[in-house]
Amino acid sequence: MNFLSLIESKRDGHTLSTAQLREIVASVVTNKIPDYQLASFLMAVFFRGLNTAETTALTLAMRDSGDVLKFPKDKRPIVDKHSTGGVGDKVSLPLAPLLACLGFRVPMISGRGLGITGGTLDKLDSIPGFKTLLPAKRITEIVQKVGCVICGQTDNMVPADKKMYALRDVTGTVPSIQLITASILSKKLAESLGALILDVKFGCAAFMQTRAEAIKLAKTMVALGNQCGVNTRAMLTDMNTPVGRASGNWLEVKESVACLAGMGPEDLRVLVVDCAAHLLVQTHKAKSFNAARKQAEACLNSGAPSAKWDEMLMAQGADLAEVKQKLSLNHTAKVVLELKTRCSGYVTRSDARILGEVIRDLGGGRLSKESVVNFDVGLDQIAKPGEAIKSGQTLCRIHADSDNQARLAGERLASAFKISANRPKLLPLVASVIK
Ligand code: URA
Repeated sequence: MNFLSLIESKRDGHTLSTAQLREIVASVVTNKIPDYQLASFLMAVFFRGLNTAETTALTLAMRDSGDVLKFPKDKRPIVDKHSTGGVGDKVSLPLAPLLACLGFRVPMISGRGLGITGGTLDKLDSIPGFKTLLPAKRITEIVQKVGCVICGQTDNMVPADKKMYALRDVTGTVPSIQLITASILSKKLAESLGALILDVKFGCAAFMQTRAEAIKLAKTMVALGNQCGVNTRAMLTDMNTPVGRASGNWLEVKESVACLAGMGPEDLRVLVVDCAAHLLVQTHKAKSFNAARKQAEACLNSGAPSAKWDEMLMAQGADLAEVKQKLSLNHTAKVVLELKTRCSGYVTRSDARILGEVIRDLGGGRLSKESVVNFDVGLDQIAKPGEAIKSGQTLCRIHADSDNQARLAGERLASAFKISANRPKLLPLVASVIK
């Protein structure tokens, strides 16, 4: 293959054929393209873009670059959810067992956190004994038997994305809508899904900071998912404030368990129920969104998803007695410091970006792929916009590895919270849905 002519073709704004894009992806996997040429190609795509046919061809070629999960025929639809990520976003944890109880099969292949964005696998790694790396055969076995699994990509799932993403990361080519779409959807398509719900976040702690950018990404992903035969919808949700009241790996597992027990914060419950309700409608298991919501609510209240969560934990190697003992602890970090307010009024801001940066620097997130994560640190009891608060009350608890780290975090967190005399007008959590 003359790779130079393909780079030049894209550089000059021409359309590449499916065969050409498949050949590029095949050459990426077999290391036939040197990094400097692949980087140059990615930059040409970044500036010139890809049309719908090209994005579809690239996505499918990436999907086919490695293992595609295969499931036996079964009346339970195969579904999943993908979030573009944010602070405190633990929706996947209660959602997977809820979906299994609603009669779905859920092969939830998830990722790790980077920067201020938390990763589902890091949260799960805080569970004693829980295994997040499973071979493809075991993934399908657990899905068939339990109904849900949450784990990482196998070594041979979408290998083209691993190489391309690593290069994008160091060449300034991550923020291309078409490359993001191909990267995310190739991984989801490798799960052989029937339906997919996307949670595309916007706001100060989101990948896409403005609503306009998030809509553009959501529309591209929804169109492409449907084009590739997966019934796809996107919810656009606010990421100016963290999801729930806890952020940090183990603290988020605790909050997810509370959600499964019918407790936990309202915004988390809304996101979990809405994701499930959309998938019920998308797979024709409910006639209307309202009916689907009621069905999902009733299932969550029944306690069955909580038992399903335990079943999934055991299937993935967790020691349930140890997990329950850990859950009973008030905290697992060495130090807990309460940050109190000196004002009275209404909380008008809990800035997710500042909270996320503080958690990352406490050791709860990664500054680079090599960073070692401390599962026990983070924040909980986070005060949320709209709440009345009195002087002396808690804005959040800081879980840290030392007194000094907790004190420094407290100083930085002061600017994350704003208290005003008037109750703020809250924007809806789910701003819109793209079908
Ligand atoms: N997440 C992915 O998996 N890929 C991207 O390109 C961006 C976010």
